[in-house]
Amino acid sequence: MTNVKTLWQQLQNHQELMAQVSLKQLFDLDSQRFQHCSLQHAGIFLDYSKNHINSETLKLLCGLAEAANLNQKINDLFSGQSVNISEKRPALHTALRCQQKKVLIVNDHNIMPDIKDTLQRMQNLSNQLNQQLWLGATNKPITDILHIGIGGSELGPKLVSDALAPFKTSSLKLHFLASVDGTELANLLQQLTPETTLVIVASKSLSTKETLLNTEAVKLWLLQQLSHISQDIVLKQHLICVTQNIEQALLLDVAAENILPVWPWVGGRYSIWSAMGLPIALVIGGEHFEQFLAGAHAMDVHFRHSPLDQNMPVLLGLLGIWYNNFFNTQSHVILPYDYLLQLLPDYLQQLVMESNGKCWQHDGNAVVGKTSAVLWGKSGLIGQHSFYQLLHQGTHMVPADFIVCAKSRHDYEHHHQLVLANCFAQSQALMVGTQTEPQNIFEQQKYIPGNRPSNTLVLDELTPYTLGALLALYEHKVFTQSVIWNINPFDQWSVELGKQLSSELLPVLQGSQATHFDASTNGLVEHVNALMNKTKEQS
Ligand code: F6P
Repeated sequence: MTNVKTLWQQLQNHQELMAQVSLKQLFDLDSQRFQHCSLQHAGIFLDYSKNHINSETLKLLCGLAEAANLNQKINDLFSGQSVNISEKRPALHTALRCQQKKVLIVNDHNIMPDIKDTLQRMQNLSNQLNQQLWLGATNKPITDILHIGIGGSELGPKLVSDALAPFKTSSLKLHFLASVDGTELANLLQQLTPETTLVIVASKSLSTKETLLNTEAVKLWLLQQLSHISQDIVLKQHLICVTQNIEQALLLDVAAENILPVWPWVGGRYSIWSAMGLPIALVIGGEHFEQFLAGAHAMDVHFRHSPLDQNMPVLLGLLGIWYNNFFNTQSHVILPYDYLLQLLPDYLQQLVMESNGKCWQHDGNAVVGKTSAVLWGKSGLIGQHSFYQLLHQGTHMVPADFIVCAKSRHDYEHHHQLVLANCFAQSQALMVGTQTEPQNIFEQQKYIPGNRPSNTLVLDELTPYTLGALLALYEHKVFTQSVIWNINPFDQWSVELGKQLSSELLPVLQGSQATHFDASTNGLVEHVNALMNKTKEQS
């Protein structure tokens, strides 16, 4: 097996060659290119033909994966090895969707019965609430769910409950409270009635300040508005908690039977498959949630057992590295052409950038070269009237993933035909550009260079199953890239610093401490404090 350094050099040399060959020429060289550069699995069709690759490129990139022992690392991931090296724990989000597995030992404990039991509790809760067997403290049925959480404790539940709205089997209305901005809190509480609202506090650590402050305010709202009923009854009927930190949940007066567990070996941005997905199960029902898990499991099987050059997550991961590390691109854009997938870029931003936005290798040495690209995106249906000018004619080459569904679930056939036409046209335009040579400076301004790469993923239709497969696909793309870069995708140490510094700033902003930071921070604090004091004097 060729060593990594040699492969890296060979890829750099190969990139110089491939940069001279246009995408159009690559199609001219292989009339079967579309067939040779497409794959399908679990209801997802991947067309990766519009990329600056040929068979030699794939051979070298797969060689890089082999040199990084990717297959062994994949087995380590699925078998519960401590792949999260800095936190000395496994990353077993895949176990959450492997229903048929009976035994998987973590720290001398078989986790599979716990997973099964928690999923059953989620289904029971969904049945109780939707059959109005679970009533509020004044014996009224619950009509609204207020989910308090942030990051992986909100992005996934919000995306999936949005995307699977056509599969709702419930009249429960979901509301999400994530930021600590009082406006968001006030707007939500104005819409809700305590008697018919069930609050879910979703926080793996139960130490996230935004979530704790929001929980405190919402608890107060519940207790004040239902002050004629004992606190125990109010909280038992209106407060559920999904967390790893059971002790802290009890300290928040959550009834013990209302606490659903999340485990240390499930990362926040990988936790949608766990009890963090409770709001989804409440509105689409347990059966659809199991289909969501099954789709992800189907992608797991594909990832674990397919040859590298026939492996969707591996190919997407290697293509990302090809552009990021050899074409020196800076970002990667996600363009869903489906209203129901408009939150997908937000979700993938955390999954990708909190996982692979790292600069230290496992052994503590600095990473050589670049790791995660900046991931961004927006519904392409909107984006093409916003930032596509840059994608087509800007100075940056931004590799794109177009995501569209062959079948829609609405009755507007012509609308969906235009969605498909727009999606395929934009991917085509990125590749072919303006096909006539400009004859003067005015035509020059309109000239689009083309030759810009993209992948197109076509879901048969957006169902719990295909959505599960799609999210698992990106999870495994992230893992593939982390192995090549030799980094840990499952920790997120850098987020602690901001939390610590904001804790130090709070007392200064509350006026109980003098400023003692850098000149900029001191200046900013003094500026806002002066404005707030002036406002107080005037009131
Ligand atoms: O951003 C840091 C982070 O820890 C994320 O990894 C996590 O998804 C989010 O904050 C919320 O954490 P918790 O679920 O513990 O409240």
